[in-house]
Amino acid sequence: MNTDDDLKGGVTSGLGHIMPAGVDVSHGPILYLEGITVSFDGFRALNDLNFTVEAGELRCIIGPNGAGKTTMMDVITGKTRPDAGTAFFGQTIDLTRFTEAEIAHRGIGRKFQKPTVFENHTVVENLELAMKADKRVRASLRAKLRADDLARIGETLALIRLESEAGRLAGTLSHGQKQWLEIGMLLMQEPKLLLLDEPAAGMTDEETARTAELFKQLAGSHTLVVVEHDMDFIASIARTVTVLHEGSVLAEGPMDVVKNDERVIEVYLGR
Ligand SMILES: Nc1ncnc2c1ncn2[C@@H]1O[C@H](COP(=O)(O)OP(=O)(O)OP(=O)(O)O)[C@@H](O)[C@H]1O
Ligand SMILES: [Mg+2]
Repeated sequence: MNTDDDLKGGVTSGLGHIMPAGVDVSHGPILYLEGITVSFDGFRALNDLNFTVEAGELRCIIGPNGAGKTTMMDVITGKTRPDAGTAFFGQTIDLTRFTEAEIAHRGIGRKFQKPTVFENHTVVENLELAMKADKRVRASLRAKLRADDLARIGETLALIRLESEAGRLAGTLSHGQKQWLEIGMLLMQEPKLLLLDEPAAGMTDEETARTAELFKQLAGSHTLVVVEHDMDFIASIARTVTVLHEGSVLAEGPMDVVKNDERVIEVYLGR
């Protein structure tokens, strides 16, 4: 079991391997899945899946219900162990060997569909609570925040466009604002890779457009993998689109190529 110190200093893993403190993307992709298979009672939710993402990408994942999109995120975050295959975060972090908490610590943040904010705390308190545990060694929320923590909270509030709502109870925010707050909470943990499962679901058109802007702003300094069924949203942010179908990649490429692919139209877009 890794302690917090191991994870911070990054010296040894629970297996005794030498591990760097950060994710090493100097010679390859930030995310590398090869031959991943996940079976549920003989049904292959993922079937020999190969999937690679380069650092700084904003990758979109589309595909029909049951294609395996969420299951893929479950494998990346350590929630589900694959029956076969290789899954690496950077060069050195074998995702199949770490717990969900360890993977989160190492820099993979995940946003589930339903917003999970602390409803009875203010927007700002939610961001404070989300800061890395090692920065939260304070007696209470009222303890003095360090200047750089305050600066980071301010930057995040601006990014998620909740500056004017900073003192509001999170429970009183709109659905879209709660989603942004949860993304802000993920950002406070300084993830390198963000996985977002149907982030625009239930949003108004205006909120969806703002979310697209946010993701485009985050790309580059972060790597984003976004699953969405809203094709207008996908079209507004897409660079490379990966189409999953029956647990494997059916097609991958620029949006205009993928959307004209006969097989993609057949299994998904033409429905
Ligand atoms: N824990 C589980 N036990 C059994 N079957 C599961 C489990 N999780 C997922 N599945 C099945 O695996 C398949 C892939 O599911 P998954 O949730 O990954 O699809 P998805 O692409 O995210 O679909 P959607 O677009 O509807 O969210 C589905 O047939 C689903 O019923
Ligand atoms: Mg899903």
